Amino acid sequence: MARSRRDPAPRWTAVFLLWTALCCLFVPAVMVKHENFKTCDQSGFCRRNRQFADTAAATSSWSSPYTVDPTTIAFKDGELHATVVKTLQDGVQNVELPLTVTFLDSGVARVTLDETKRQKGDITLRHDSKARKERYNEAGKWTLVGGLKVADGAALSEKAEQGYTKVFYGDGSKHQAIIRHAPFGIEFQRDGETQVKFNERGLLNLEHWRSKIEKPAEEKKDGEEEKKEEEKKEEAAGEDESTWWDETFGGNTDSKPRGPEAVALDITFPGYEHVFGIPEHATRLSLKTTRGGDGAYSEPYRLYNADVFEYEMDSPMTLYGAIPFMQAHRKGSTVGVFWLNAAETWVDVVKAKSTANPLSLGTKGHTDTQTHWISESGLLDVFVFLGPTPQDLTRQYGELTGYTAMPQSFAIAYHQCRWNYVTDEDVKDVDRKFDKHKIPYDVIWLDIEYTQEKKYFTWDPLTFVNPDTMGKQLDKSQRKLVVIIDPHIKNTNDYPVIDELKKKDLAVKNKDGNQYEGWCWPGSSMWIDCFNPAAISWWKGLFKYDSFKGTLPNTFIWNDMNEPSVFNGPETTMPKDNIHFGGWEHRDVHNVNGMTFHNATYQAISERKKGELRRPFVLTRSFYSGSQRSAAMWTGDNLAEWSHLEASLPMILNQGISGFPFAGADVGGFFGNPSKELLTRWYQAGIYYPFFRGHAHIDTRRREPYVPGAPYTEIITQALRLRYQLLPAWYTAFREAHTTGAPIVRPNFYVHPEDERGFAIDDQLYIGSTGLLAKPVTKEGATSVDVYLADDQPYYDFFDYTLYQGSGTHTVPAPLEKIPLLMQGGNIIPRRDRPRRSSGLMKFDPFTLVVVLDKDGAAKGELYIDDGETFDYETGAYIHRRFAFDGKRNVLTSTNAVPVGAKATAKLEAYLKSMNKVRVEKVIIVGAPKTWKGKTEAIVMEEGAKESARKKTIAMEFHSGSGKSADWAIVRDPKVGIGRGWKIDFS
Ligand code: GLC
Repeated sequence: MARSRRDPAPRWTAVFLLWTALCCLFVPAVMVKHENFKTCDQSGFCRRNRQFADTAAATSSWSSPYTVDPTTIAFKDGELHATVVKTLQDGVQNVELPLTVTFLDSGVARVTLDETKRQKGDITLRHDSKARKERYNEAGKWTLVGGLKVADGAALSEKAEQGYTKVFYGDGSKHQAIIRHAPFGIEFQRDGETQVKFNERGLLNLEHWRSKIEKPAEEKKDGEEEKKEEEKKEEAAGEDESTWWDETFGGNTDSKPRGPEAVALDITFPGYEHVFGIPEHATRLSLKTTRGGDGAYSEPYRLYNADVFEYEMDSPMTLYGAIPFMQAHRKGSTVGVFWLNAAETWVDVVKAKSTANPLSLGTKGHTDTQTHWISESGLLDVFVFLGPTPQDLTRQYGELTGYTAMPQSFAIAYHQCRWNYVTDEDVKDVDRKFDKHKIPYDVIWLDIEYTQEKKYFTWDPLTFVNPDTMGKQLDKSQRKLVVIIDPHIKNTNDYPVIDELKKKDLAVKNKDGNQYEGWCWPGSSMWIDCFNPAAISWWKGLFKYDSFKGTLPNTFIWNDMNEPSVFNGPETTMPKDNIHFGGWEHRDVHNVNGMTFHNATYQAISERKKGELRRPFVLTRSFYSGSQRSAAMWTGDNLAEWSHLEASLPMILNQGISGFPFAGADVGGFFGNPSKELLTRWYQAGIYYPFFRGHAHIDTRRREPYVPGAPYTEIITQALRLRYQLLPAWYTAFREAHTTGAPIVRPNFYVHPEDERGFAIDDQLYIGSTGLLAKPVTKEGATSVDVYLADDQPYYDFFDYTLYQGSGTHTVPAPLEKIPLLMQGGNIIPRRDRPRRSSGLMKFDPFTLVVVLDKDGAAKGELYIDDGETFDYETGAYIHRRFAFDGKRNVLTSTNAVPVGAKATAKLEAYLKSMNKVRVEKVIIVGAPKTWKGKTEAIVMEEGAKESARKKTIAMEFHSGSGKSADWAIVRDPKVGIGRGWKIDFS
């Protein structure tokens, strides 16, 4: 392959060094190879469905050919069953489609539509295919983990009007599903107002099974011409057969043994101007329209997990992962849909504006967002969420697909990676250099070169001679090692892993039922099929300490290339007619494939040794809904360019509201060499990524934080220290994500859902519920940034307490050494201020609380801590405090946030004991009232303290701010335990 990254040098030789140096001098302009990836027009089912939409739009009398047969409607135990009939053009034969609408206890509704003939296996496959005959119905098996309890309360309307069936459901029966019989469609209402409409535009299209009618071969002469003519006619009739039976792209032919089987539906959000979600795309948070026009895209958003080399910015092109969850937002309401389908999917977004009618009073102009979802195969399976808040959406979606796993505390600290640290000595050297420069970091990573010739579970015997010693050195400062393990297994002799894979028959098969062979980093490879439970069991065995020798308890795993990336496959992935365990075609399961792999790795890491109960850490590149339960993700191979730094923010914000918040982007940019300024700014932004890792391509120059030198190294170190200082706030935000599904970094609309002006803002972020508002610099040469404030609370600069107040845009200075970070009044922010080498070494450090008063002089906040490693938190072994500053009484209190009645367990007792000496060492009050001036004392009361110590006086300092900066007060060492209840009286 011509692409340089596909041919990494096997060894660290002089030749390679020279070559690297040359590459660094001439960094070529890079651009995605569009020709390697399909457009909608080149993807048969997408093209057919877009044509269908065009025909519908152009036909005034258009009527969807789907109707509910009213005699089949049955409603029982919160579930409605009926048959939808598709009337075919010949008018002779109709197709039966079983419909289920399930009303869940959570107020969510689920609609599925299947096809009787395929369901019964009553079809014949072409080419003697061994594939399953049904529409794929197991996406839920990999994705859904809860929230499926059916509502007891859902009730069918007794006074059903003719032509409709109505079901009331949700809390207080506020929700209503109105199922229209002819043509079939559903309106979902909340409090009598329609929020979501299915098939309003009549684009529902379930391509039913049909057998191929062989046409007589055309005369060679003029055959092509004639064929084109014929195709045109068919297109106009909406029956373009040209891609029904096989499809060729980039020299690969898909045999399509089941013929056409797409499923598509239009979903309208009336009155909603903004839609968010459906990652992963390098695009803005508020999704653009996709049917052309000024500044709009002309391609639909595509969801087909792929290794997109040198991906472009501002594009609906597919990337490595897919989450088919979309939310629509307007003032006062957030609603959404989750399109549970694992096949290739395209989503068109159109905004239909209706202007105000000057003649009729009261008719305001409004915008409807119309979406069109198109999947290649599988069931139609859609969940509908009626909100009404963004928090309801993330919670309910999380109930279904799971909340983000609680990470070990090291995992949210800084990770140092590159392709590649070349020897074990190199790793140890980098480790020492971080210490020498007093730069904190927690994890160092090894990319593919650590292996012997890309054979995973081996170490290169010449370069990684003593992995044990290396791991132990890291452990001395409680640091960790992450090594890469990809899903392709080198197809070679003398490699027990491939021998077992073959012998046990655990690889993905090709269409003929033989083990599929393709090309990836190691050359010829086979792919473990994690749809197979036996493959997962085998995989687990490979990670045991006595099997993967050289790994230690501080070794964790990076799963890459799991889209899967296949260098010589169609669109750099597997052929769609490959067959997985259970007989499913790759076509059906493509988008969940990556998740099955990192799930297997998660399980493997959980079981490396009996009795070793540590939270695993796995990083994945490919993902699907549910990946958040077992992995962190990063945005893949970005470029060392300002535009990629800028794009990382909306991409990561989008991950957050889409249920997979443990997200980051390669700091510094993967391809190319960032300027020192870009590198510095990227670190200053990276400290706000939930997953924070520096990474670089093999052809790039070294760029560890100590490399750029003064003043950059110092500035980057400050940024890293700020991340470490705020780790308690981050960890608390992770806890919230883990228990409620809330994003870890949050966009403006999520925090201020009523503030219309801020709905599209995606370049600044709030950290959890802390009120910390960051606006990273993403422009070269910038010396200030404009921060948008949605409310009229006071916001204070994190470092010098400069006050910004008033809703609207404020200019905040941002010279290179400054990280624009504000604290919203009304919050109490926990910190740990002592610089350490790693987060593990901060475990018993004291806390600082920054109390940022709101305009009424009050504030509140939370802190969550646990042992940061084990699963003991699951049985209550944690400290969760709630802090409140009462602005009337001027008293700060710390109370237990654990629900009253929660049982004390032995593990909790032990944990509290271990934390007994950990105290609050500083309390800073920002925006302290002027009346405190001259005060020198505060009174501290602690629960459980000895009588004599229960009430004591401590020194307080009041500082008048200068210029625009706020007054502040500080009490030092109030000697109160972080795990205990206490009060500090400032009155
Ligand atoms: C892929 C990954 C990248 C990694 C490289 C080598 O391109 O996205 O992060 O460094 O493979 O493993």
